[in-house]
Amino acid sequence: MAHLTGSDRADFVQGMFTRIAHRYDLMNRLMTAGQDARWRREAIRRAALPPGRSIVLDLGAGTGDLAFDALRRHPETTPIAADFTLAMMRVGQKRQNGHQLNWSSADALKLPYPNETFDAVVSGFLLRNVIDIQQALAEQFRVIKPGGMMVALDTTRPRENLLSPLIHFHMKTVIPTLGRMLTGQADAYTYLPDSSINFLRAEEMAARMAAVGFSEINFERKMFGVVAIHWGRK
Ligand SMILES: C[S@@+](CC[C@H](N)C(=O)[O-])C[C@H]1O[C@@H](n2cnc3c(N)ncnc32)[C@H](O)[C@@H]1O
Repeated sequence: MAHLTGSDRADFVQGMFTRIAHRYDLMNRLMTAGQDARWRREAIRRAALPPGRSIVLDLGAGTGDLAFDALRRHPETTPIAADFTLAMMRVGQKRQNGHQLNWSSADALKLPYPNETFDAVVSGFLLRNVIDIQQALAEQFRVIKPGGMMVALDTTRPRENLLSPLIHFHMKTVIPTLGRMLTGQADAYTYLPDSSINFLRAEEMAARMAAVGFSEINFERKMFGVVAIHWGRK
């Protein structure tokens, strides 16, 4: 699947998330040894939602983890959980309090929302999957209110260091084996390490954010530099 581009790649991504939706949350906890919950809480904190009523978009929400976290931290916010894979959102809707989120079918490359709608746009492990990162970032910039925050939690291309062999073993062997055992979908979990290793470096992502207009950009690496949280202000 590494060779796929354009709409073929988007179709592949959508089909893959449809097939793994029922085991997606469990796989996340196992692959990150439960660390992803902490990163998500940090991502929501970085979104710096204003006190009182606000509206936040969790883009590529999948089963809604970030939107649920936003609601826990800011009970007065209105969270919109948007994705282009219905099967992922259906799993999220059946979660406890799933009805408290506003689920929305949306393509990150062509968002169905007016300009300056959201106090913040957050995403978890979305950008690695889109076929045009620049367009996805530009769309997020468009729908954020002036002064609002964009936060992206995603894998990032790790720098070579002493731990590189261990990281490669985890990504190339442990994750695909776990994925095959739990979901029966080996290709989905070889896609993940491949797309991570070939993804942008954290500095490159920051430069892309600047190119669409974000300011006050910063990022923090997590999990031996395999994951990063980026944030920027409109
Ligand atoms: C790895 S999952 C992440 C789910 C969730 N955000 C999380 O943090 O666990 C990536 C999600 O992005 C969605 N996605 C990928 N490309 C998309 C696009 N162009 N528009 C909307 N959603 C997209 C997929 O359907 C999938 O649910």
